[in-house]
Amino acid sequence: MTPPSARPEWQALQQHAATIQATHLRDLFASDATRGERLTAEAAGLYLDYSKQRVTDETLGKLVALAEAVGLREQIAAMFTGATLNNTEQRAVLHVALRAPRGAVIEVDGQNVVPEVYAVLDRMAQFVDQVRSGVWRGYTGKPIRNIVNIGIGGSDLGPAMAYDALRQYSARELTLRFISNVDATDFAEAVRDLEANETLFIVASKTFTTLETMANAQTARQWLLDRLGDKEAVARHFVAVSTNAKEVAAFGIDPANMFGFWDWVGGRYSMTSAIGLSTMLALGSGSYHAMLGGFRAMDDHFRSAPFAQNLPVLMGLLAVWYTSFMGAETQAVLPYDQYLRRFPAYLQQLTMESNGKRVRRDGAAVDYETGAIYWGEPGTNGQHSFYQLIHQGTKLIPCDFIGFCHSLNPVGQHHDLLMANMFAQAEALAFGKSAEAVAASGTPAWLVPHRTFPGNRPSSTILAERLTPASLGALIALYEHSVFTQSAVWGINAFDQWGVELGKVLAAQILPELSSNSEPTLNHDSSTNSLIRRYRAAQG
Ligand code: F6P
Repeated sequence: MTPPSARPEWQALQQHAATIQATHLRDLFASDATRGERLTAEAAGLYLDYSKQRVTDETLGKLVALAEAVGLREQIAAMFTGATLNNTEQRAVLHVALRAPRGAVIEVDGQNVVPEVYAVLDRMAQFVDQVRSGVWRGYTGKPIRNIVNIGIGGSDLGPAMAYDALRQYSARELTLRFISNVDATDFAEAVRDLEANETLFIVASKTFTTLETMANAQTARQWLLDRLGDKEAVARHFVAVSTNAKEVAAFGIDPANMFGFWDWVGGRYSMTSAIGLSTMLALGSGSYHAMLGGFRAMDDHFRSAPFAQNLPVLMGLLAVWYTSFMGAETQAVLPYDQYLRRFPAYLQQLTMESNGKRVRRDGAAVDYETGAIYWGEPGTNGQHSFYQLIHQGTKLIPCDFIGFCHSLNPVGQHHDLLMANMFAQAEALAFGKSAEAVAASGTPAWLVPHRTFPGNRPSSTILAERLTPASLGALIALYEHSVFTQSAVWGINAFDQWGVELGKVLAAQILPELSSNSEPTLNHDSSTNSLIRRYRAAQG
């Protein structure tokens, strides 16, 4: 496999980066009056303005040439047709099949998976209707009022984020809670005001072996039994979402109450699989399918649009540009919508578990930077905490601003205030305020450096009409495919996560050392040994 960095297209970008490092966004805008209209693209209800990115037409041409050279087009086609792209786990990567149209044909090992997808979606819809209409009742005959999703990582972050994002579309009479952390505080606080006989637990785990989820599920079962006093109650209050029917049955959940998915769905790409059951319970199946429609619209666009107008490709190539050529280490994601407050957390798993890799698919070490650190907070809160560093610090931090033309809570002037801030921040970052302009406004000379904004700080703005199930779906798919684009250029496998394994193994080793009655022989390093001894001593 040719390393991307050995390609002439890569080297051309390296040379070109020196030119761009010396070019200010002020000059790029001054020399092209139409830049703000030209460097934009639109699809699936999302408008992307990337004119405030530190790129020229030449940069974009060179990035697209690199994408072509590494075979991005072929890799996209391979993903959509069920190729074994996850080479280290020998799996297809087919989250796009989860939102394909009902009649589509997508084959894995010669078998069309779309009918299976719809069989599960239809079962989910049936179950959701029963719960929401009160046909499905708890053990004591009461309707379900509380839904508690127990899962972690991809079995938590997507559903938790989507519930927050789409609260306006949810059945407000239902209470939804999400338990992920093995810290019992998460469980205790989530259930403390819930009545067991009105509560449905969804145990969501692809593998059904994840330590945190299994511990929380056992605790939930005990909590229920302590209150309802009969094992028979479990069947009315627990359902499972998993690929592992055997473990689900071993836990004691009736396989009839299990919603399945498949090993070709990666955990962090699973929110449109049955992992979305809590989302469907909150929204109802109509709005859930509208969300799938938004994902699908972006999938179709990604698959077919020319690279120069392809939103996920453009965003992915910009991410490669900053990470591998311009020296940026992080990417801020700044949603100007309170409903998207969990979106950055969701993106952290999607992006960093996918592209936090140091070897390529063939095992060779990369000689370039990969996967940026993604982080962020909803605007305007971030403005009053960390934006200072983005404006005047020494680091280059590309930002994604995300906003909507209409608020779902149109109260007074709030939305104009919110959006004025979003537009202003992107403008201030790009253009700054020169020392001359600061001095000219009467600032004493000694204060001028402190009040100068260098500008030239890049951002994209993603603007949609309104936050809806469909626009949320399109937004998530946009980032999913941007991640794919980055991985394709870097030549890495975005679909495995071996880096989470070592900690799990060591935790399993340490657990008995913490709880054993006799003093254990510790064979860790001196730091870990003494931390364990101190912890044990504190337990008495
Ligand atoms: O953290 C590793 C990981 O495997 C994630 O990739 C996954 O989303 C999460 O754990 C939860 O896994 P599961 O759904 O199998 O419980």
